[in-house]
Amino acid sequence: SKRFYRVDSMRNLELFDKGETAAQENRWIFEISHEAANKVGGIYQVIRSKCSASVEELGDQYVLLGHYKEASVRTEVELGEFPDDSPLTATVNSVRSFGWRVHTGRWLVDGNPQIILFDIGSAYDLLSGYKREFYDSCKIGIPHQDVECNDAVLFGFMVAKFVEEFRNEVLNFSDSKPRIAAHFHEWLAGVGLIMLRVRNIDVATIFTTHATLLGRFLCAGAVDFYNNLDNFNIDEEAGKRGIYHRYCMERCSVHLTHTFTTVSEITGVEAEHLLKRKPDIITPNGLNVKKFAALHEFQNLHAMSKEKINDFIRGHFYGHMDFDLDKTLYFFIAGRYEFGNKGADLYIEALARLNHYMTASGTDKTVIAFMIFPAKTNNFNIESLRGQAITKSLRDTIHDIQAKIGKRMYDICLTGRLPDAEELLLKEETVRLKRCIYAAQRKSLPPITTHNVQDDGSDPVLNALRRCHLFNDPQDRVKVIFHPEFLSATNPLFGMDYEEFVRGCHLGVFPSYYEPWGYTPAECTVMGIPSVTTNLSGFGCFMAEHIADPMSYGIYIVDRRFIGLEDSVRQLAQYLYEFVQLNRRQRIIQRNRTERLSELLDWRILGTYYCQARQLAFREVYPDLDIAEAAGGAGRLNYPRPLSEPPSPTSSRATTPAPSEHGSDEEDSVDSEAELEELGVQSANGSTTGSR
Ligand code: UDP
Ligand code: G6P
Ligand code: GLC
Repeated sequence: SKRFYRVDSMRNLELFDKGETAAQENRWIFEISHEAANKVGGIYQVIRSKCSASVEELGDQYVLLGHYKEASVRTEVELGEFPDDSPLTATVNSVRSFGWRVHTGRWLVDGNPQIILFDIGSAYDLLSGYKREFYDSCKIGIPHQDVECNDAVLFGFMVAKFVEEFRNEVLNFSDSKPRIAAHFHEWLAGVGLIMLRVRNIDVATIFTTHATLLGRFLCAGAVDFYNNLDNFNIDEEAGKRGIYHRYCMERCSVHLTHTFTTVSEITGVEAEHLLKRKPDIITPNGLNVKKFAALHEFQNLHAMSKEKINDFIRGHFYGHMDFDLDKTLYFFIAGRYEFGNKGADLYIEALARLNHYMTASGTDKTVIAFMIFPAKTNNFNIESLRGQAITKSLRDTIHDIQAKIGKRMYDICLTGRLPDAEELLLKEETVRLKRCIYAAQRKSLPPITTHNVQDDGSDPVLNALRRCHLFNDPQDRVKVIFHPEFLSATNPLFGMDYEEFVRGCHLGVFPSYYEPWGYTPAECTVMGIPSVTTNLSGFGCFMAEHIADPMSYGIYIVDRRFIGLEDSVRQLAQYLYEFVQLNRRQRIIQRNRTERLSELLDWRILGTYYCQARQLAFREVYPDLDIAEAAGGAGRLNYPRPLSEPPSPTSSRATTPAPSEHGSDEEDSVDSEAELEELGVQSANGSTTGSR
């Protein structure tokens, strides 16, 4: 891990001059990705969350290039022309003269960066010529039926031409020699890089891969991937899966780029074996970390969002609300629907065991485990919608009666006496309430999914739940809900977006097998929500490297590398069970500790790896120039064991915050000064008492 240097924050801050230095040096940075202003998965989060730090550092010398997708652009981008005196405007005009539709504007995210979006349809008539040139220059033939690859070719050629034109235009705007870096993400954007290189354009190139095509495919096929990295016959494996041409595009980008980076060490090793190049530098993924003015605001947000999830649960479990919401914990898994790669198999298996442990222990707690994976559906199912309607009707009826009771009480009190009970709640109101209560009875069990899943019989999550007998029986202490769609604020069941949902949960569970980075647990961390990850995920390994005892900070790392599947399942189930045993006060402490790790994931620090990657590329292309880019890094931000950790030997096992000696009572007293310190502004019952 020599790659991590000490933080050189002063140096970094100096360079955060909104592009002044870069402008003086005539230095320009283009970042190119299909997911710029176009949400698909984690790469979108990389580009989006980094904008703020990139603009702080580079100002308008920083430009995003992306694929024009009308639906996303409508909500994400403020379209508009750049100023006349910008070389970007001259370049845009120049490529528009080819008949290309090129949209410009600013992305409506923190940092508000300049963005240029290429409508590939406007170059479609050039596709066959481009493909021929691509074949002639690097011997990669693209089958005509592979629409995604054809699009990648169009996008790549447009981008390469744009950067080439920019290189010419910018000479008219400054006397100094321009230094241009083009940073490409993932094989889908690789054609642009390849064309810049084969055409010998004087530009420094960086290529970051967020996975390898073959790695993702092989892992999804249940192979023992990590123990056989050097044994795969790569060409044959790619050929068998019909992705040989894609693999060639990926490998060609990796070999032609000046600087090659991956998002984690583990993906670096994978790339070395499958793509035959070791990354020059690792560029770990960060987040746009925002600190609230009030230190414990994130705890309040948790309580508020949890209340919204409680509302959903009341509706979903109507007629079966035989558990106490105050003693209920919310777990979840979420992501693109790659069942095995994302570890949904392990999650469900471990939930079944947790159910068994909890039932056997006679606990009065309940776990509700969500699974959020977009699958093909025919919309929400009636039972889920009915549940919400029934509880809403009960709530509305009670509000109405409450108001009437209040008015009657007021009128009677004005006469100088106290009202009798029967004067307050009238008979007809009792009847109304009874009708609501009867409507809320049901014989069937609460559904395990919120939607009508199209391939119900072969759906992997549903089948795993069936196999494990997780059916939301009243005696089950673990209840399950499969929500086969990403969450959005307009969702009629939850009425909350993904971020709000995460805040309301207690634990994110992401036991991935294939996960180059894994944003989902990282996002939990900055929101102060503990999570489970694995030692096969880039994020998990990164945290393990920087924190002395990750578990005590609410980062549970399941071993999926050195032990067998059965042992991993058992370990995960054990972690979940230990988490369930924490009391409220311990959970609050743990959330405080988790949130403290945010700084480790802040782009303001991790962004320096991007600077270093560019610097390497610049040095290769412009060896004679003095490049002032940052040389800092995330450094070894070491997180020691927390203060209130009990002394060893117990500390080595505790999930901590140290399990209480007084049992799992929610209102335990504070054990030590150190714990008091950790609780910060929280008193023993969780209410706010002061500030840290
Ligand atoms: N995500 C989302 N809505 C959901 C579930 C997930 O927007 O309901 C986002 C999540 O915030 C994260 C991304 O999907 O940024 C998944 O990224 P990750 O790196 O975990 O995995 P990838 O999909 O890139 O493999
Ligand atoms: C936050 C709030 C507390 C509340 C707690 C619930 O920490 O600040 O007032 O008691 O959430 O925590 P729990 O882990 O039980 O959801
Ligand atoms: C990829 C990986 C994911 C990573 C994301 C961003 O899609 O699957 O693990 O977090 O890219 O780098």
